[in-house]
Amino acid sequence: MRGHILIVDDDREMRDFLEILLEKEGYKVKTAERADKALRYLSQDEFDLIITDLKMPKIDGLDFLRRVREINEKVRVILVTAFASAETAYEAMKEGAFDYVEKHFEVDSFLDIVERALKQKKEKKEGDGAFTPGQVVKFGQMLTRNKEMIRIFNMIKKIADTTANVLILGESGTGKELVARAIHEHSSRKSRPFVAINCGGIPENLLESELFGHVKGSFTGAYTDKIGLMELASGGTVFLDEISELTPALQVKLLRVVEEKSFRRVGGGENIHVNIRIISATNRNLQERVKAGKFREDLYYRLNVIPIELPPLRHRKEDIPILVEHFIEKYARAFSKEIRNISSYALELLSQYSFPGNIRELEHIIERSVALETSNIILPDNLIFDLTKSEDALSKLDEIGDEGINLNEVLTKIEKSLIEKALKKVNGSRTKAAELLHITVDSLKYRMEKLNIT
Ligand SMILES: Nc1ncnc2c1ncn2[C@@H]1O[C@H](COP(=O)(O)OP(=O)(O)OP(=O)(O)O)[C@@H](O)[C@H]1O
Ligand SMILES: [Mg+2]
Repeated sequence: MRGHILIVDDDREMRDFLEILLEKEGYKVKTAERADKALRYLSQDEFDLIITDLKMPKIDGLDFLRRVREINEKVRVILVTAFASAETAYEAMKEGAFDYVEKHFEVDSFLDIVERALKQKKEKKEGDGAFTPGQVVKFGQMLTRNKEMIRIFNMIKKIADTTANVLILGESGTGKELVARAIHEHSSRKSRPFVAINCGGIPENLLESELFGHVKGSFTGAYTDKIGLMELASGGTVFLDEISELTPALQVKLLRVVEEKSFRRVGGGENIHVNIRIISATNRNLQERVKAGKFREDLYYRLNVIPIELPPLRHRKEDIPILVEHFIEKYARAFSKEIRNISSYALELLSQYSFPGNIRELEHIIERSVALETSNIILPDNLIFDLTKSEDALSKLDEIGDEGINLNEVLTKIEKSLIEKALKKVNGSRTKAAELLHITVDSLKYRMEKLNIT
């Protein structure tokens, strides 16, 4: 016997279907058409897994879930929903449901979920315990001591091994991609691919063939068949970055992938089925774009089953010292330097800064100061705050349009152009150019190398 399963559903056909399907797979199955009956069975007998309808007369699935927990803490629960109502699924996950499936599920992936649920019950996973707020916590490649971040990490542990799609929101540089990777790493998909793709900045037709692949001859330049990323990621996780930038046509195609787990290659006629978990991210207000009619509402709800909103660094300043220490160590090792510390005044300057580029910006600041520092401690002189240095140049830029502006890109461009101008003015003399720019020659050399200036 592979496991004892209790099926709860008021729909007779569904009950019979599941019973036959699961018994054929070697599971021992009992069925109940009402929640109260199921609760009675549960107090009389041992079950490993409950598969229950979310919408039942008299008692709804969530209430049922709470009552189940009172009787048996350990039994896994899979909810079957008529349509994935994002909120309920999320609530259910919080109440400790293992996963949910939609009524018109694919048999194979359903059995897959059942098997995983039963496996997880047997081997209590390592690292399953919750992090305690107040401590410095390391999760994946991330460090924090912030309460909200710790809450998010604990939540990720709970939902990582489900099929629920996740939408990660947060300003640029807050760690969205690291969170996506951590979810993948904590799921049983971890041995399968994690495929990341940026939906912004790639022309629509190119992105379409990247995502879905194409067949030979479907457009000029399609010399061979090509497998898309969705297919490559099968069994794994697809990370769709800058999801807000997806064009209307591709939104429709993605909706189909999410709903039916199938798509066609560009120019192809065959339906390709995939088993993927979709994690998307954006630094835009997606809800506003939905209201403005720029992003499909149905797709938004499908992608946003589990929302994760990462706080900006200026709202978790207690993280600055531990991140600084972490990055000093990282770059001291990379540059073979003896630097171990930061002066308290330099740290204070950092704590006062607002970090529009968040953790990525902090990392760059530390990287540069480690590269430039000649003593064994980071001093304020070598902290280069991008913003303050380029305020004048920035004010010359046009206003920020609706599509926003990539701050880091603009700053890099400004830096590069000013260094090139200075070098030109003094016929390439580094000493003189450094003087013109009010920086040291070392600093100039370092920047030139980073920015590829010869
Ligand atoms: N909690 C953290 N601990 C340590 N390093 C972090 C943490 N969060 C982010 N980082 C660092 O910041 C960098 C940026 O993170 P990431 O690329 O995940 O941000 P993002 O939100 O995807 O940014 P963008 O919106 O610009 O794409 C990472 O490469 C990592 O080095
Ligand atoms: Mg990113």
